[in-house]
Amino acid sequence: MRFLDPQPGGVYVDGTLGLGGHSEEILSRSGPDGRVIAFEWDESAIERSTQRLQPYAERLTVIRRNFAELAMGLDELGVREIDGLLIDIGLSSLQLDIGERGFSFQRDETLDMRMDNRRKNSAQEILATCSEQELADIFFYYGEERQARPIAAAICRYRAEQKIETTKQLVSIVAHAVPRRFHPKKIHVATKVFQALRIAVNTELENLATILDDGARFLKPGAKFCVISFHSLEDRIVKRKFLSDELLDVLTTKPVMPSAEEVAENPRSRSARLRVAQKK
Ligand SMILES: C[S@@+](CC[C@H](N)C(=O)[O-])C[C@H]1O[C@@H](n2cnc3c(N)ncnc32)[C@H](O)[C@@H]1O
Repeated sequence: MRFLDPQPGGVYVDGTLGLGGHSEEILSRSGPDGRVIAFEWDESAIERSTQRLQPYAERLTVIRRNFAELAMGLDELGVREIDGLLIDIGLSSLQLDIGERGFSFQRDETLDMRMDNRRKNSAQEILATCSEQELADIFFYYGEERQARPIAAAICRYRAEQKIETTKQLVSIVAHAVPRRFHPKKIHVATKVFQALRIAVNTELENLATILDDGARFLKPGAKFCVISFHSLEDRIVKRKFLSDELLDVLTTKPVMPSAEEVAENPRSRSARLRVAQKK
């Protein structure tokens, strides 16, 4: 909020409405007449956040779209210029905790992983149809998983006998495919595979690249583009794009990280990295 600095009368885009925390704060600070245009592709997140933001309903427009469709969404509303843009990518706590979509390897759920249930290609479909090489590439590039090849091979052997439908099946395949001595100490052995599949199912890196390409041209001079990401792959994309974009000045040479107090209060913030650029 310190970077975005919402002002009365301003028009702000929240690319990831989620449960509405950021939008609520922008609406509150930009009263009485500031406006928020919020993108969110998950129906259940929209239901919850629109209830929460009911007191601000007149100043809030929610668009059920991928934020990669920023240009189309703003065109449809006839909005040419905005006073700030914020995206907070990844999963919401709602999706992690009660989504029942197979995002977490800690529960046994159906392997779906689509944040937007209108999308094609759930995690099950990817595991059933991609070639061994394609699976290895997904795990290596999107998960930075060093054991990508043996894991992909184990998946192909397993699926020749039985369909892979649940998180429990996938966890067991990964745990057996990775030799004990290579099991990581600090994270679960399946963490990176789950991250990679989720990125592939939701085309997360492509979506990020598209909004980074399109966002700056909608910003008024001086307006801020704020991105919160949760892993190094995404953060690298944001860093490079901000640096190379001639329309933008980078305001954060290093990413802003949460304080120890914030992490203690909200452990899920621990890997968050905020980068901000300003339209020239
Ligand atoms: C980390 S949460 C955002 C939390 C939000 N800032 C808040 O204060 O509650 C990320 C949200 O962005 C949504 N999301 C992720 N990628 C998206 C995309 N490409 N287009 C639209 N929504 C997306 C997810 O469905 C999720 O609800």
